[in-house]
Amino acid sequence: MAKVKTTFFCQNCGTQFPKWAGKCTSCNEWNTLVEEIVQKEEKRNWKQSTPKKNTNTPLAVSEIEIDKEIRLHTQNNELNNVLGGGLVPGSVILLGGEPGIGKSTLLLQIALEMQHRVLYVSGEESQSQIKMRAERLQNNNSNCLILTETKTQNIFKNIEATNPDVLVIDSIQTLYTDYIDASPGTVSQIKETTAELIKFAKETATPVLVIGHINKEGSIAGPKILEHMVDVVLQFEGDRNHTYRILRSQKNRFGSTAELGIYEMLGTGLREVSNPSEILISEKDADLSGTAVAATLEGMRPLMIEVQALVSSAVYGTPQRSATGYNLKRLNMILAVLEKRAGFRLGAKDVFLNITGGIHVADPAIDLAVISAILSSNEDDAIPQNYTFAAEIGLAGEIRPVNKIDQRISEAEKLGFEKIFISKFNKFKKDNRAIEIVCVSKIEEIYALLF
Ligand code: TYD
Ligand code: MG
Repeated sequence: MAKVKTTFFCQNCGTQFPKWAGKCTSCNEWNTLVEEIVQKEEKRNWKQSTPKKNTNTPLAVSEIEIDKEIRLHTQNNELNNVLGGGLVPGSVILLGGEPGIGKSTLLLQIALEMQHRVLYVSGEESQSQIKMRAERLQNNNSNCLILTETKTQNIFKNIEATNPDVLVIDSIQTLYTDYIDASPGTVSQIKETTAELIKFAKETATPVLVIGHINKEGSIAGPKILEHMVDVVLQFEGDRNHTYRILRSQKNRFGSTAELGIYEMLGTGLREVSNPSEILISEKDADLSGTAVAATLEGMRPLMIEVQALVSSAVYGTPQRSATGYNLKRLNMILAVLEKRAGFRLGAKDVFLNITGGIHVADPAIDLAVISAILSSNEDDAIPQNYTFAAEIGLAGEIRPVNKIDQRISEAEKLGFEKIFISKFNKFKKDNRAIEIVCVSKIEEIYALLF
């Protein structure tokens, strides 16, 4: 009997070790090394009969011919945009996200809406569970075949029988290949099954969409190398208690990573949100103090987001500071700037900050809206609903310019805002606009203009 070969893999970062140790020397995590059997056989093609073309002769860049870019369009425009125009034949797309966020729902919905033949392979749910989900989505497309299987060799056999145009795998952590003796979800299995899927995709020019679980730090579970192997890495995120979901691309070999898709989770599946600004601004009757609208940019997409602040006297000794959807350290910094540079006494006050819609905003252009909302709550004086803000705050209390200001101004104008407050140093196109552009350079100025 051949000797069984084993090695130790760190389950966190995927590094390989010949011996067990308590701590991974690569990522410094404790107790993550697990022994896995690696047994290799010579023939590990997804299909033995595929002839191989020799494409490995060097060519000058000018000599290389590119095929006209063909992309398979999904019926889902948000996904098409994020991918840069549709699915590229032969590409492998990895979709990560928290449990229960809607990864399976998104891919099943896309599979059901496709006009191409799709094979949806699930290792997580039974065919009847998927049927129930499809009923919720109210779609019964007969072009979409459902298979419950976890062994890659069986999946490839079914592929040969059904010849799909697109393959969907839910999820990579449930797959295993016969050539390796480790259990599904281990580093060596994930690496090997992904390699098989990539080989299949490249040789048949079939796009493959793969769901990946994420670990507690929020990155895709399994080896980091997984993200290097695939062509596109998408992340599906959102707050599970809110209905909005954002699809972001972290890596894209065929397009930009600046695009993002927005969805709303309804009882009947995911709805594409093509005009997100309208839903992120809460409906209210009267002018309320403590709210301000920021003209932010998520990727390439302008988004008008409402910021709400509540400033009240601290009842107990230490004042509380809390922020949802905004970095707490940045809030503390902004409060310090207000105190030191503009003389607002907020040291003994509780400050709560909330971004509506459960969205986390990292765009610094939201700062000016944050300051305005805090001041408005502190003064108990409302900011008119048709004002919006787009500028960053510096440590010296200066109001700094932000990028792509024209896009922000246009979006605000389109949504009917009457005034936009920006930095004096921001250069913008002086078109004939219906919106009034107010340039400010210091916090005191904005205070004088608003209250
Ligand atoms: P799911 O796609 O199973 O998440 P993942 O694959 O990322 O783990 O999504 C499950 C959640 O979505 C579940 O809490 C119910 C909700 N849901 C809806 O709100 N509407 C729907 O139409 C469907 C199918 C699911
Ligand atoms: Mg799932």
